[in-house]
Amino acid sequence: MAQEPIRIGLLVGREWSFPPAFIEEVNRRAASTGVIAEYVKLGGTMMNEPVPYRVIVDRISHEVPYYRSYLKNAALQGVRVVNDPFMWTADDKFFGASLLTKLGIPSPKTVVLPNKDYVPGIKHDESLRNLIFPLDWWDLVNSVGGFPLILKDAHGGGWRDVYVIHSMEELWHHYNHSGLLTMIIQEFIAWDEGLYARCMGIGQEAVRVMRYDPKQRYYYPEHGFDPQLAQTLHDYTLRICQAFGYDMNTAEFAVRGGVPYAIDFMNPAPDMDVNSLGRGHFDWIVRTMADQMIALALGPTSTADNYKWGALIRPQPQVNAPSRARGG
Ligand SMILES: Nc1ncnc2c1ncn2[C@@H]1O[C@H](COP(=O)(O)OP(=O)(O)O)[C@@H](O)[C@H]1O
Ligand SMILES: [Mg+2]
Repeated sequence: MAQEPIRIGLLVGREWSFPPAFIEEVNRRAASTGVIAEYVKLGGTMMNEPVPYRVIVDRISHEVPYYRSYLKNAALQGVRVVNDPFMWTADDKFFGASLLTKLGIPSPKTVVLPNKDYVPGIKHDESLRNLIFPLDWWDLVNSVGGFPLILKDAHGGGWRDVYVIHSMEELWHHYNHSGLLTMIIQEFIAWDEGLYARCMGIGQEAVRVMRYDPKQRYYYPEHGFDPQLAQTLHDYTLRICQAFGYDMNTAEFAVRGGVPYAIDFMNPAPDMDVNSLGRGHFDWIVRTMADQMIALALGPTSTADNYKWGALIRPQPQVNAPSRARGG
């Protein structure tokens, strides 16, 4: 009797190029690997519902919160979720900048600001007694090196709410319109002509260094960096992916005076579209995602060891139901 295949599930949004290419690539190898890939189908989930997948590749739970809940349950059942839903829920650009500095990877000086607005029910004089008011704006600005600086959402993505700021008036204007967001200000890294990179890390093992033009949002087919710089970009990217436990991630670097500064390095659902990446990068990503996800599907299944947050989901001894008080 033929053995049941091991399954990789895919959760996707509107993207049309990566998902079918990935599924086709995994299934093309199924006869020799015993692993297949398919779209996950969901319609409401029972707690502790068993999950028929060994690995789930998640491209969209940041926009479909039910999927995030489903994935945390899946992690608890021993599924390797790419990327770790617990870490993804917790990451932000301020924490990231602090972590990278601890790891010895250059990143722009960064300050997180108190929120501008609050949910209804927060009364400034009663609910916010821990906050100093007014803020010492010059002190905050000087601590990231003055103007120009970057103001952006600590939880942002896709270039939403990113501003280059040249004056206090501009800073106040955009801060005053930031609403409930948590904004950071950051040293502006003016990169040397053409020296900007976006690097794709897959499986905490494989890295593709790509030269990128953020103004045109264009990936060059060949990076053309000198080998030493390319090696540093490779090593930093790998280190970052390992630190966050992210199995697919892009890290952006602006190179100033020969030093690559990590600008944006937590992208747990990175751009994998053939039209933006170009054929060469796209084919590498499809092939490498297949290699790495199949390896994960065939790897050890210990839930706790799969995650940075393993302690949370390490199997616990069952708590005995309290014995009923007698009598009464
Ligand atoms: N500290 C910075 N110095 C220089 N440019 C920056 C800095 N932060 C962001 N940028 C520019 O803004 C773009 C968007 O910011 P990023 O942090 O990547 O936000 P998102 O997560 O929305 O992509 C970057 O690609 C880069 O071109
Ligand atoms: Mg970015």
